[in-house]
Amino acid sequence: MSPLLEVTDLRILFGRSRREVVHGVSFALEPGQRLGLIGESGSGKTVTALAIMGLLADNAYVSGSIRLAGRELVGLRDRDLAPLRGDLMSMVFQEPMTALDPTMPVGRQVAEVLLLHQNLGHGVARGRVLEVLAEVGLEDPERVADAYPHALSGGQRQRVVVAMALINRPDLVICDEPTTALDVTVQATVLNLLDAELDAVGASCLFISHDLAVVSQLCERVLVMLDGDIVEQGTLAQIFNAPTHPYTRGLVATARLDAVAPGERLPTVEDFYQHPGRP
Ligand SMILES: Nc1ncnc2c1ncn2[C@@H]1O[C@H](COP(=O)(O)OP(=O)(O)OP(=O)(O)O)[C@@H](O)[C@H]1O
Ligand SMILES: [Mg+2]
Repeated sequence: MSPLLEVTDLRILFGRSRREVVHGVSFALEPGQRLGLIGESGSGKTVTALAIMGLLADNAYVSGSIRLAGRELVGLRDRDLAPLRGDLMSMVFQEPMTALDPTMPVGRQVAEVLLLHQNLGHGVARGRVLEVLAEVGLEDPERVADAYPHALSGGQRQRVVVAMALINRPDLVICDEPTTALDVTVQATVLNLLDAELDAVGASCLFISHDLAVVSQLCERVLVMLDGDIVEQGTLAQIFNAPTHPYTRGLVATARLDAVAPGERLPTVEDFYQHPGRP
């Protein structure tokens, strides 16, 4: 099986000084696989995601190779890349307001993503939008569709964004800290939703988080990024049982301690497999 996404020696530099913030990283993602990308603040997770989406700022310089479904993305003009966004690949950002236009009812925004890539009548599109809003667990989809983003809660907005990201059944969904801005209780429901929706669509996922416990709920493999380099990659079992880099060892220790109530035994990696937090 050839990988869906293959990143080779990706370098990202910024500004006139050409400050290099990602130093030649390589990784691959198989069809249907979920890959966690973990690392501390400023390590280069978001810029790596934006490079794949072709959404980096104009002062960014990218070299290396990003192949998606056999197509080279580095060096593509935006007008060749734009049709792939929302269709072949999509992204869920940390803050749902980044993805939503405050001046337009959310139903119209979801419909626009649909109509950009599919030739549908407006009535059919509206019906499909209501269906998808219901699928992502929004009650009263008619009311939600006619609401402006500010009239919805943070959790509702993120559900709308998940609906937008998945409505065209993309092959790759990139999630960048999709639940960090939400309340803890809402976080869990949105993660469960993402989990179920990714399965339903059969999409691959690059899931960015600084939280190994969250990544372990959703992903089979993990990349660990530190200061612009990937310092470790492997399956969840490898990362939990035999972390080689000191930074990863620290992450694993914290994730395990967080998961343990006082007096309980430390969880093993089998615990994560038996109770992966799936609905
Ligand atoms: N537009 C830009 N211009 C210049 N430097 C940038 C720009 N965007 C990001 N950077 C720099 O690139 C580096 C990596 O940033 P990035 O946003 O990818 O970190 P991150 O791993 O996503 O962190 P966090 O966990 O805080 O989201 C940082 O040093 C940041 O300052
Ligand atoms: Mg980031």
